[in-house]
Amino acid sequence: MTASPANNAASPLAPDWLDVPADLNALHAPMWAAGVARTDGGELAIDGVPVSELQRQFGTPLFVMSETDFRARARAFQDAFNEAFADICGGVDVYYAGKSFLCTAVVRWVEEEGLRLDTASGGELAVAARAGIPGAAVALHGNNKSDAEIHRALDMGLGRIVVDSLPELERVAAIAANRGETAKVMLRLTPGVHAHTHEFIATAHEDQKFGLSMAGDSTEQAGLSAAEEAVAAAAGHASIELLGLHCHIGSQIFEPDGFAVAAEKLLDFLAAMRSKYSVELPELDLGGGYGIAYTPVDAPRPPAEIARAMAAVVRAKVAELGITAPRISIEPGRAIVGTSTFTLYEVGTLKTVRVDVAVPAGGAEGLDNVTYPRRYVSVDGGMSDNARPVLYDADYSAVLASRSSTAAPQLSRVVGKHCESGDIVVRDVYLPEDVAAGDLLAVPGTGAYCWVLSSNYNYLARPGVVALRDGAARLIVRGETEADLLNRDMGV
Ligand SMILES: Cc1ncc(COP(=O)(O)O)c(C=O)c1O
Repeated sequence: MTASPANNAASPLAPDWLDVPADLNALHAPMWAAGVARTDGGELAIDGVPVSELQRQFGTPLFVMSETDFRARARAFQDAFNEAFADICGGVDVYYAGKSFLCTAVVRWVEEEGLRLDTASGGELAVAARAGIPGAAVALHGNNKSDAEIHRALDMGLGRIVVDSLPELERVAAIAANRGETAKVMLRLTPGVHAHTHEFIATAHEDQKFGLSMAGDSTEQAGLSAAEEAVAAAAGHASIELLGLHCHIGSQIFEPDGFAVAAEKLLDFLAAMRSKYSVELPELDLGGGYGIAYTPVDAPRPPAEIARAMAAVVRAKVAELGITAPRISIEPGRAIVGTSTFTLYEVGTLKTVRVDVAVPAGGAEGLDNVTYPRRYVSVDGGMSDNARPVLYDADYSAVLASRSSTAAPQLSRVVGKHCESGDIVVRDVYLPEDVAAGDLLAVPGTGAYCWVLSSNYNYLARPGVVALRDGAARLIVRGETEADLLNRDMGV
Protein backbone atom coordinates (compact mmCIF):
# COMPACT_ATOMS: atom_id res chain seq x y z
CA MET A 1 0.00 0.00 0.00
CA THR A 2 1.37 3.43 -0.86
CA ALA A 3 0.42 6.41 1.28
CA SER A 4 1.35 10.05 1.36
CA PRO A 5 0.86 11.82 4.63
CA ALA A 6 -1.80 14.48 4.19
CA ASN A 7 -0.59 18.06 4.09
CA ASN A 8 0.71 19.05 7.51
CA ALA A 9 0.51 15.48 8.85
CA ALA A 10 3.74 14.13 10.30
CA SER A 11 5.48 11.51 8.21
CA PRO A 12 5.96 8.17 9.97
CA LEU A 13 9.55 8.34 8.69
CA ALA A 14 10.23 11.43 10.78
CA PRO A 15 11.72 11.14 14.27
CA ASP A 16 9.27 11.64 17.15
CA TRP A 17 10.77 14.99 18.11
CA LEU A 18 10.22 16.57 14.70
CA ASP A 19 6.89 18.36 14.32
CA VAL A 20 5.56 19.62 11.04
CA PRO A 21 6.11 23.39 11.23
CA ALA A 22 2.92 25.46 11.09
CA ASP A 23 4.76 27.84 8.77
CA LEU A 24 7.72 26.56 6.76
CA ASN A 25 8.94 30.11 6.19
CA ALA A 26 9.10 30.97 9.88
CA LEU A 27 12.49 31.19 11.58
CA HIS A 28 12.65 29.57 15.02
CA ALA A 29 14.45 32.41 16.83
CA PRO A 30 16.74 30.40 19.20
CA MET A 31 18.39 28.75 16.18
CA TRP A 32 19.22 31.96 14.29
CA ALA A 33 21.66 34.82 14.72
CA ALA A 34 20.36 38.26 15.54
CA GLY A 35 19.75 40.15 12.30
CA VAL A 36 18.53 37.15 10.29
CA ALA A 37 15.03 37.73 8.90
CA ARG A 38 13.04 37.36 5.71
CA THR A 39 12.74 40.35 3.42
CA ASP A 40 9.30 41.55 2.35
CA GLY A 41 9.78 39.43 -0.75
CA GLY A 42 10.35 36.33 1.40
CA GLU A 43 14.09 35.87 0.88
CA LEU A 44 16.36 35.21 3.84
CA ALA A 45 18.59 38.15 4.69
CA ILE A 46 21.14 38.94 7.36
CA ASP A 47 21.64 42.52 8.49
CA GLY A 48 19.43 43.42 5.52
CA VAL A 49 21.73 41.68 3.00
CA PRO A 50 19.78 39.06 1.01
CA VAL A 51 21.35 35.62 0.65
CA SER A 52 21.24 35.88 -3.16
CA GLU A 53 23.56 38.88 -2.87
CA LEU A 54 25.92 36.90 -0.62
CA GLN A 55 25.91 34.07 -3.15
CA ARG A 56 26.62 36.50 -5.98
CA GLN A 57 29.58 38.03 -4.14
CA PHE A 58 31.07 35.02 -2.39
CA GLY A 59 29.58 31.85 -3.93
CA THR A 60 28.29 28.77 -2.13
CA PRO A 61 28.73 26.86 0.07
CA LEU A 62 29.40 29.76 2.39
CA PHE A 63 29.58 30.21 6.16
CA VAL A 64 27.60 33.36 6.96
CA MET A 65 28.45 34.76 10.37
CA SER A 66 26.97 37.69 12.27
CA GLU A 67 29.79 39.57 13.96
CA THR A 68 27.16 41.47 15.94
CA ASP A 69 25.65 38.24 17.23
CA PHE A 70 29.06 36.77 18.12
CA ARG A 71 30.02 39.89 20.06
CA ALA A 72 26.66 40.03 21.84
CA ARG A 73 26.88 36.41 23.00
CA ALA A 74 30.49 36.88 24.12
CA ARG A 75 29.47 39.94 26.14
CA ALA A 76 26.41 38.17 27.52
CA PHE A 77 28.57 35.39 28.99
CA GLN A 78 31.09 37.85 30.39
CA ASP A 79 28.43 40.11 31.94
CA ALA A 80 26.24 37.32 33.29
CA PHE A 81 29.10 35.47 34.99
CA ASN A 82 30.69 38.68 36.28
CA GLU A 83 27.42 39.65 37.88
CA ALA A 84 26.60 36.24 39.35
CA PHE A 85 30.09 35.74 40.82
CA ALA A 86 30.81 39.37 41.83
CA ASP A 87 30.34 38.71 45.54
CA ILE A 88 32.16 35.37 45.43
CA CYS A 89 35.41 36.12 43.61
CA GLY A 90 34.99 39.57 42.06
CA GLY A 91 33.93 38.23 38.64
CA VAL A 92 34.81 35.52 36.16
CA ASP A 93 37.43 35.26 33.39
CA VAL A 94 35.72 34.01 30.24
CA TYR A 95 38.06 32.21 27.85
CA TYR A 96 36.50 31.80 24.39
CA ALA A 97 37.25 28.22 23.26
CA GLY A 98 39.00 28.84 19.95
CA LYS A 99 38.71 25.22 18.92
CA SER A 100 35.06 25.89 18.09
CA PHE A 101 35.98 28.50 15.46
CA LEU A 102 39.13 30.56 15.12
CA CYS A 103 40.63 33.13 12.79
CA THR A 104 42.40 36.41 13.46
CA ALA A 105 39.22 38.50 13.13
CA VAL A 106 37.52 36.43 15.81
CA VAL A 107 40.51 36.74 18.15
CA ARG A 108 40.23 40.52 17.83
CA TRP A 109 36.47 40.47 18.58
CA VAL A 110 37.14 38.29 21.63
CA GLU A 111 39.77 40.70 22.91
CA GLU A 112 37.66 43.79 22.19
CA GLU A 113 34.74 42.30 24.13
CA GLY A 114 36.97 41.76 27.16
CA LEU A 115 37.25 37.96 26.92
CA ARG A 116 40.35 35.82 26.89
CA LEU A 117 41.27 33.01 24.51
CA ASP A 118 41.53 29.28 25.00
CA THR A 119 43.70 27.41 22.46
CA ALA A 120 44.45 23.72 21.97
CA SER A 121 47.47 23.55 19.65
CA GLY A 122 50.51 25.38 18.32
CA GLY A 123 48.48 26.27 15.22
CA GLU A 124 45.80 27.96 17.30
CA LEU A 125 48.56 29.77 19.20
CA ALA A 126 49.93 30.96 15.85
CA VAL A 127 46.53 32.47 14.98
CA ALA A 128 46.38 34.13 18.41
CA ALA A 129 49.89 35.56 18.02
CA ARG A 130 49.15 36.82 14.50
CA ALA A 131 46.01 38.57 15.78
CA GLY A 132 48.13 40.31 18.39
CA ILE A 133 46.27 39.27 21.56
CA PRO A 134 48.61 39.50 24.59
CA GLY A 135 49.91 36.10 25.66
CA ALA A 136 48.77 36.79 29.22
CA ALA A 137 45.15 36.51 27.97
CA VAL A 138 45.71 33.11 26.32
CA ALA A 139 45.47 29.55 27.66
CA LEU A 140 46.89 26.40 26.05
CA HIS A 141 45.23 22.98 26.29
CA GLY A 142 46.05 19.59 24.85
CA ASN A 143 46.63 16.04 26.05
CA ASN A 144 49.77 15.65 23.94
CA LYS A 145 51.55 18.95 23.72
CA SER A 146 54.84 18.87 21.87
CA ASP A 147 57.99 20.46 23.28
CA ALA A 148 57.71 23.01 20.47
CA GLU A 149 54.20 23.93 21.63
CA ILE A 150 55.39 24.32 25.22
CA HIS A 151 58.29 26.53 24.05
CA ARG A 152 55.87 28.59 21.97
CA ALA A 153 53.59 29.03 24.98
CA LEU A 154 56.55 30.27 27.03
CA ASP A 155 57.78 32.50 24.17
CA MET A 156 54.33 34.13 24.09
CA GLY A 157 54.23 34.55 27.89
CA LEU A 158 50.99 32.56 28.08
CA GLY A 159 48.65 33.26 30.98
CA ARG A 160 48.19 29.55 31.58
CA ILE A 161 49.30 26.18 30.30
CA VAL A 162 46.65 23.63 31.24
CA VAL A 163 48.66 20.53 32.06
CA ASP A 164 46.92 17.27 31.26
CA SER A 165 49.17 14.55 32.74
CA LEU A 166 52.03 13.86 35.13
CA PRO A 167 54.62 13.32 32.36
CA GLU A 168 53.56 16.60 30.79
CA LEU A 169 53.96 18.41 34.10
CA GLU A 170 57.53 17.18 34.30
CA ARG A 171 58.25 18.25 30.72
CA VAL A 172 56.80 21.73 31.27
CA ALA A 173 58.79 22.06 34.50
CA ALA A 174 62.02 20.96 32.80
CA ILE A 175 61.57 23.19 29.73
CA ALA A 176 60.74 26.22 31.88
CA ALA A 177 63.70 25.49 34.19
CA ASN A 178 66.08 25.21 31.21
CA ARG A 179 64.88 28.56 29.99
CA GLY A 180 65.27 30.07 33.45
CA GLU A 181 61.56 30.87 33.50
CA THR A 182 58.45 30.02 35.46
CA ALA A 183 55.50 28.44 33.66
CA LYS A 184 51.99 29.39 34.82
CA VAL A 185 50.15 26.09 35.09
CA MET A 186 46.62 24.84 35.71
CA LEU A 187 46.02 21.13 36.27
CA ARG A 188 43.21 19.54 34.28
CA LEU A 189 41.36 17.06 36.46
CA THR A 190 38.72 14.50 35.57
CA PRO A 191 36.13 14.89 38.31
CA GLY A 192 34.24 11.76 37.27
CA VAL A 193 31.31 13.80 36.00
CA HIS A 194 30.30 13.38 32.43
CA ALA A 195 27.49 15.39 30.99
CA HIS A 196 25.74 15.35 27.68
CA THR A 197 22.73 17.46 26.81
CA HIS A 198 20.08 16.81 29.46
CA GLU A 199 21.85 14.20 31.50
CA PHE A 200 24.97 13.86 33.51
CA ILE A 201 26.50 10.84 35.15
CA ALA A 202 28.92 10.85 38.02
CA THR A 203 31.19 7.82 38.03
CA ALA A 204 34.25 6.80 39.98
CA HIS A 205 36.54 6.76 36.95
CA GLU A 206 36.82 8.58 33.71
CA ASP A 207 37.68 6.17 30.94
CA GLN A 208 39.05 8.78 28.54
CA LYS A 209 42.31 10.33 27.42
CA PHE A 210 42.04 13.74 29.07
CA GLY A 211 43.12 14.88 32.48
CA LEU A 212 44.38 13.73 35.83
CA SER A 213 42.06 11.35 37.63
CA MET A 214 40.80 12.37 41.05
CA ALA A 215 39.81 8.81 41.83
CA GLY A 216 41.83 5.90 43.18
CA ASP A 217 45.60 5.53 43.22
CA SER A 218 47.79 6.95 40.51
CA THR A 219 49.84 4.28 38.81
CA GLU A 220 52.98 6.03 40.01
CA GLN A 221 52.40 6.32 43.74
CA ALA A 222 50.08 4.21 45.91
CA GLY A 223 47.71 6.15 48.12
CA LEU A 224 47.59 9.26 45.94
CA SER A 225 45.33 9.98 43.02
CA ALA A 226 47.01 11.25 39.86
CA ALA A 227 45.47 14.66 40.58
CA GLU A 228 46.96 14.83 44.07
CA GLU A 229 50.31 13.56 42.88
CA ALA A 230 50.37 16.34 40.29
CA VAL A 231 49.60 19.00 42.91
CA ALA A 232 52.41 17.69 45.12
CA ALA A 233 54.84 17.51 42.19
CA ALA A 234 53.93 20.98 40.91
CA ALA A 235 54.37 22.45 44.38
CA GLY A 236 57.89 21.02 44.41
CA HIS A 237 58.99 22.64 41.13
CA ALA A 238 60.46 26.14 41.35
CA SER A 239 59.84 26.52 37.60
CA ILE A 240 56.07 25.97 37.98
CA GLU A 241 53.62 28.57 39.25
CA LEU A 242 50.59 26.47 40.08
CA LEU A 243 47.58 28.67 39.36
CA GLY A 244 44.87 26.16 40.10
CA LEU A 245 42.57 23.47 38.82
CA HIS A 246 40.57 22.92 35.67
CA CYS A 247 37.83 20.58 34.48
CA HIS A 248 35.64 20.26 31.40
CA ILE A 249 32.76 17.82 31.71
CA GLY A 250 31.37 17.62 28.19
CA SER A 251 29.59 19.53 25.47
CA GLN A 252 26.13 20.63 24.36
CA ILE A 253 24.91 20.57 27.98
CA PHE A 254 21.60 22.23 28.84
CA GLU A 255 21.19 21.54 32.55
CA PRO A 256 23.57 23.21 35.05
CA ASP A 257 23.55 20.21 37.46
CA GLY A 258 26.64 18.57 35.96
CA PHE A 259 28.66 21.80 36.21
CA ALA A 260 27.50 22.15 39.81
CA VAL A 261 28.58 18.66 40.84
CA ALA A 262 31.97 19.13 39.15
CA ALA A 263 32.44 22.51 40.87
CA GLU A 264 31.68 20.97 44.26
CA LYS A 265 34.12 18.11 43.72
CA LEU A 266 36.89 20.45 42.60
CA LEU A 267 36.32 22.81 45.53
CA ASP A 268 36.50 19.89 47.98
CA PHE A 269 39.76 18.83 46.38
CA LEU A 270 41.12 22.37 46.27
CA ALA A 271 40.42 22.84 49.99
CA ALA A 272 42.09 19.53 50.82
CA MET A 273 45.17 20.40 48.74
CA ARG A 274 45.45 23.87 50.28
CA SER A 275 45.62 22.45 53.77
CA LYS A 276 47.75 19.40 52.95
CA TYR A 277 50.38 21.01 50.72
CA SER A 278 50.08 24.70 51.70
CA VAL A 279 49.46 25.63 48.07
CA GLU A 280 47.13 28.51 47.37
CA LEU A 281 45.53 27.26 44.09
CA PRO A 282 43.96 30.68 43.50
CA GLU A 283 42.05 29.78 40.31
CA LEU A 284 39.37 27.30 39.28
CA ASP A 285 38.30 26.81 35.66
CA LEU A 286 34.98 25.03 35.13
CA GLY A 287 35.39 24.55 31.36
CA GLY A 288 32.84 25.03 28.60
CA GLY A 289 30.05 22.94 27.16
CA TYR A 290 26.93 25.13 27.27
CA GLY A 291 24.36 23.89 24.77
CA ILE A 292 22.74 25.69 21.83
CA ALA A 293 19.62 25.14 19.71
CA TYR A 294 20.27 23.04 16.61
CA THR A 295 16.62 22.05 16.21
CA PRO A 296 13.33 23.46 17.50
CA VAL A 297 13.31 21.03 20.43
CA ASP A 298 16.63 22.21 21.89
CA ALA A 299 16.04 24.71 24.69
CA PRO A 300 19.29 26.34 25.78
CA ARG A 301 19.32 28.30 29.03
CA PRO A 302 20.32 31.95 28.97
CA PRO A 303 23.85 32.57 30.30
CA ALA A 304 22.45 34.49 33.31
CA GLU A 305 20.45 31.45 34.42
CA ILE A 306 23.44 29.11 34.14
CA ALA A 307 25.71 31.62 35.85
CA ARG A 308 23.30 32.08 38.79
CA ALA A 309 22.90 28.32 39.25
CA MET A 310 26.66 27.75 39.22
CA ALA A 311 27.33 30.73 41.50
CA ALA A 312 24.82 29.45 44.06
CA VAL A 313 26.63 26.13 44.26
CA VAL A 314 30.10 27.69 44.47
CA ARG A 315 28.95 30.22 47.09
CA ALA A 316 27.45 27.48 49.28
CA LYS A 317 30.42 25.14 48.93
CA VAL A 318 32.99 27.83 49.71
CA ALA A 319 31.01 28.78 52.83
CA GLU A 320 30.71 25.12 53.91
CA LEU A 321 34.46 24.60 53.50
CA GLY A 322 35.31 27.95 55.10
CA ILE A 323 37.83 28.80 52.35
CA THR A 324 38.53 31.92 50.30
CA ALA A 325 36.90 31.44 46.93
CA PRO A 326 39.27 30.89 44.02
CA ARG A 327 38.93 33.15 40.99
CA ILE A 328 36.53 31.32 38.64
CA SER A 329 36.97 31.01 34.88
CA ILE A 330 34.93 29.29 32.15
CA GLU A 331 35.62 28.31 28.52
CA PRO A 332 32.50 28.52 26.33
CA GLY A 333 32.97 28.01 22.59
CA ARG A 334 29.81 26.70 20.92
CA ALA A 335 27.50 28.93 22.98
CA ILE A 336 29.29 32.04 21.69
CA VAL A 337 29.90 31.19 18.04
CA GLY A 338 27.51 28.35 17.20
CA THR A 339 24.33 30.32 16.62
CA SER A 340 26.13 33.29 15.06
CA THR A 341 26.47 31.41 11.78
CA PHE A 342 24.44 29.63 9.12
CA THR A 343 25.72 27.75 6.11
CA LEU A 344 24.34 28.76 2.73
CA TYR A 345 24.09 26.00 0.11
CA GLU A 346 22.71 25.78 -3.40
CA VAL A 347 20.33 22.91 -4.13
CA GLY A 348 21.23 20.55 -6.97
CA THR A 349 19.84 17.09 -7.55
CA LEU A 350 16.51 16.08 -6.01
CA LYS A 351 15.35 12.52 -5.61
CA THR A 352 12.44 10.90 -3.83
CA VAL A 353 12.62 7.36 -2.47
CA ARG A 354 9.80 5.21 -1.12
CA VAL A 355 10.38 3.64 2.29
CA ASP A 356 8.32 0.78 3.74
CA VAL A 357 6.96 1.25 7.23
CA ALA A 358 5.16 -1.48 9.18
CA VAL A 359 1.96 -0.05 10.67
CA PRO A 360 -0.82 -1.75 12.68
CA ALA A 361 -3.32 -3.28 10.26
CA GLY A 362 -6.66 -1.48 10.33
CA GLY A 363 -9.13 -3.45 12.48
CA ALA A 364 -7.27 -6.75 12.16
CA GLU A 365 -4.30 -8.08 14.04
CA GLY A 366 -0.82 -7.83 12.55
CA LEU A 367 1.04 -5.22 10.58
CA ASP A 368 0.65 -3.74 7.13
CA ASN A 369 3.56 -2.46 5.09
CA VAL A 370 2.85 1.10 4.04
CA THR A 371 5.18 3.01 1.76
CA TYR A 372 6.04 6.62 2.48
CA PRO A 373 8.17 9.07 0.49
CA ARG A 374 11.41 10.60 1.65
CA ARG A 375 12.99 13.27 -0.51
CA TYR A 376 16.75 13.67 -0.83
CA VAL A 377 17.83 17.25 -1.44
CA SER A 378 21.47 17.42 -2.56
CA VAL A 379 23.49 20.55 -1.87
CA ASP A 380 26.86 21.76 -3.12
CA GLY A 381 28.79 20.99 0.12
CA GLY A 382 28.30 18.26 2.70
CA MET A 383 30.40 16.30 5.15
CA SER A 384 33.51 18.29 4.12
CA ASP A 385 32.02 21.51 5.56
CA ASN A 386 29.94 19.90 8.32
CA ALA A 387 31.33 16.66 9.70
CA ARG A 388 29.19 16.71 12.85
CA PRO A 389 26.24 14.68 11.52
CA VAL A 390 28.65 11.94 10.42
CA LEU A 391 30.90 12.17 13.48
CA TYR A 392 28.32 12.58 16.22
CA ASP A 393 24.92 11.86 14.62
CA ALA A 394 24.27 15.55 15.19
CA ASP A 395 20.88 16.89 14.17
CA TYR A 396 20.48 20.16 12.29
CA SER A 397 17.63 22.05 10.70
CA ALA A 398 17.27 23.92 7.41
CA VAL A 399 15.03 26.41 5.64
CA LEU A 400 14.45 27.40 2.05
CA ALA A 401 16.43 30.65 1.91
CA SER A 402 16.23 32.12 -1.59
CA ARG A 403 12.46 32.60 -1.39
CA SER A 404 9.43 31.80 0.73
CA SER A 405 6.98 29.14 -0.32
CA THR A 406 3.38 28.19 0.37
CA ALA A 407 3.88 24.64 -0.90
CA ALA A 408 3.08 21.70 1.38
CA PRO A 409 5.74 20.39 3.78
CA GLN A 410 7.65 17.36 2.61
CA LEU A 411 9.90 15.26 4.80
CA SER A 412 13.36 15.79 3.38
CA ARG A 413 16.94 14.76 3.97
CA VAL A 414 19.57 17.31 3.03
CA VAL A 415 22.65 15.53 1.73
CA GLY A 416 26.01 16.61 0.39
CA LYS A 417 27.83 15.86 -2.86
CA HIS A 418 30.47 13.45 -1.54
CA CYS A 419 30.97 9.86 -2.58
CA GLU A 420 29.65 8.59 0.71
CA SER A 421 26.09 7.51 1.47
CA GLY A 422 26.49 8.76 5.05
CA ASP A 423 27.14 12.27 3.70
CA ILE A 424 24.15 13.83 5.45
CA VAL A 425 23.83 17.49 6.40
CA VAL A 426 20.31 17.48 7.88
CA ARG A 427 18.87 14.03 8.56
CA ASP A 428 15.23 15.02 8.86
CA VAL A 429 13.56 18.31 8.09
CA TYR A 430 10.29 19.43 6.54
CA LEU A 431 10.92 21.61 3.49
CA PRO A 432 8.39 22.97 0.99
CA GLU A 433 7.67 20.35 -1.66
CA ASP A 434 8.44 22.84 -4.45
CA VAL A 435 12.14 23.13 -3.48
CA ALA A 436 14.01 22.92 -6.77
CA ALA A 437 17.53 22.91 -8.20
CA GLY A 438 19.02 26.40 -7.96
CA ASP A 439 17.20 27.27 -4.72
CA LEU A 440 19.31 28.27 -1.74
CA LEU A 441 19.06 26.46 1.61
CA ALA A 442 20.31 27.81 4.93
CA VAL A 443 21.38 25.52 7.77
CA PRO A 444 21.57 27.41 11.09
CA GLY A 445 23.85 26.76 14.06
CA THR A 446 26.99 25.95 12.05
CA GLY A 447 29.37 28.42 13.70
CA ALA A 448 30.99 25.90 16.02
CA TYR A 449 32.94 22.77 15.06
CA CYS A 450 31.99 22.94 11.36
CA TRP A 451 34.43 25.17 9.49
CA VAL A 452 37.24 24.15 11.87
CA LEU A 453 36.53 20.49 11.13
CA SER A 454 36.21 21.02 7.39
CA SER A 455 38.19 18.88 4.97
CA ASN A 456 39.07 18.61 1.30
CA TYR A 457 37.44 15.20 0.88
CA ASN A 458 36.84 14.54 -2.82
CA TYR A 459 39.01 17.60 -3.43
CA LEU A 460 36.24 19.99 -2.58
CA ALA A 461 37.50 23.47 -1.79
CA ARG A 462 36.75 24.52 1.78
CA PRO A 463 34.17 27.33 1.93
CA GLY A 464 34.91 30.88 2.98
CA VAL A 465 33.50 32.65 6.01
CA VAL A 466 31.80 35.98 5.57
CA ALA A 467 31.04 38.24 8.55
CA LEU A 468 28.16 40.72 8.66
CA ARG A 469 28.19 43.88 10.71
CA ASP A 470 26.02 46.99 10.33
CA GLY A 471 24.77 45.81 6.96
CA ALA A 472 28.25 45.26 5.53
CA ALA A 473 29.60 41.86 4.53
CA ARG A 474 33.32 41.11 4.54
CA LEU A 475 35.25 37.90 4.12
CA ILE A 476 37.11 36.94 7.27
CA VAL A 477 38.39 33.70 5.74
CA ARG A 478 38.40 33.35 1.97
CA GLY A 479 37.18 30.17 0.38
CA GLU A 480 39.74 27.87 -1.16
CA THR A 481 40.37 27.84 -4.89
CA GLU A 482 41.42 25.04 -7.19
CA ALA A 483 44.92 26.49 -7.02
CA ASP A 484 44.88 26.03 -3.22
CA LEU A 485 43.87 22.41 -3.73
CA LEU A 486 46.85 21.75 -6.00
CA ASN A 487 49.25 23.89 -4.01
CA ARG A 488 50.92 21.11 -2.01
CA ASP A 489 50.85 18.47 -4.73
CA MET A 490 54.56 18.09 -5.50
CA GLY A 491 53.81 16.51 -8.87
CA VAL A 492 52.25 19.70 -10.20
C1 LIG B 1 38.88 21.85 27.58
C2 LIG B 1 37.75 22.41 26.79
N1 LIG B 1 37.29 23.63 27.10
C3 LIG B 1 36.26 24.20 26.43
C4 LIG B 1 35.66 23.52 25.37
C5 LIG B 1 34.53 24.21 24.65
O1 LIG B 1 33.36 23.50 24.71
P1 LIG B 1 32.03 24.13 24.08
O2 LIG B 1 32.37 24.60 22.72
O3 LIG B 1 31.07 23.00 24.07
O4 LIG B 1 31.64 25.25 24.97
C6 LIG B 1 36.09 22.24 25.03
C7 LIG B 1 35.45 21.52 23.94
O5 LIG B 1 35.70 20.40 23.62
C8 LIG B 1 37.16 21.67 25.76
O6 LIG B 1 37.63 20.46 25.45
